[in-house]
Amino acid sequence: MIKVVVCGASGRMGQTIGRMVKESSDLELVGGVDLKPGTFYGIDIVASQKIETLLKSKKPDVLIDFTIAQAATENVKIAARNKVALVVGTTGFTPEQRADMTKAIEGNVPAVISSNFSVGVNIFWQLVRESAKLLKDYDVEVIEAHHRNKKDAPSGTAKTILTILDEEIGARKKLYGREGMMERGNEIGIHVIRGGDIVGDHKIMFSKNFETIELSHRAYDRSVFASGALRATRWVIGKKPGVYGMNDVLNLVKK
Ligand SMILES: NC(=O)c1ccc[n+]([C@@H]2O[C@H](COP(=O)([O-])OP(=O)(O)OC[C@H]3O[C@@H](n4cnc5c(N)ncnc54)[C@H](O)[C@@H]3O)[C@@H](O)[C@H]2O)c1
Repeated sequence: MIKVVVCGASGRMGQTIGRMVKESSDLELVGGVDLKPGTFYGIDIVASQKIETLLKSKKPDVLIDFTIAQAATENVKIAARNKVALVVGTTGFTPEQRADMTKAIEGNVPAVISSNFSVGVNIFWQLVRESAKLLKDYDVEVIEAHHRNKKDAPSGTAKTILTILDEEIGARKKLYGREGMMERGNEIGIHVIRGGDIVGDHKIMFSKNFETIELSHRAYDRSVFASGALRATRWVIGKKPGVYGMNDVLNLVKK
């Protein structure tokens, strides 16, 4: 059995992951961490200050983190020094926070970090990469939509799309929304929608005179992210220390 602790256990993703761990025959839910103590699926949730005590007493194989960037950065450091493998789905990291996490992970534990654990989105990213290679002279717009409680914007998934575009069509200025009189330059327009309970929509448009190509992905249920995170949880066990992506888990090669 793979022993799992979930950080952000009271959150939307933490709850979904907790339920799916409980339903898995090869995974054992041994603890949860959130800002306030409580329980989920019959397991104790401890307050975040007690995370290290929890890791020392329950000795989990994997810590899954879906919290907020600042908390996740600290949780990663604590898990790494306790030799607990990591699956991190939290988004909104600054470059400094990412560097801090990488430093803590390297040489210590294996960690899968991904802004999106859905298998479909990882394939979608590949399609974006392949399309961008062929459409370098097209205007590009990126649109994403999420539920009203999402805190970071644009989404981690949209930021990954922007990184792929930078790699394939060269760095272009990023313009976040438009208002007033302006000429379109050689920019990428990024548009963020927040409302209701939208789970996660991403669209990229490549436009040129007389035509537009659109690629889009829509998640209908957070189980899609949770099941990818559990796939990463099973995969990360026994891997060499270092930072991995979902492309490693799925064996998708960056072409
Ligand atoms: N990678 C993916 O596939 C994917 C998918 C969905 C969401 N996300 C990301 O996961 C994160 C969580 O999303 P959500 O919708 O579940 O948010 P949420 O707000 O519902 O849940 C976050 C939880 O983290 C808790 N938390 C905050 N600080 C903490 C700390 N120091 N220690 C422990 N817990 C703490 C909060 O109390 C909350 O319960 C966000 O960054 C979101 O963008 C990633």
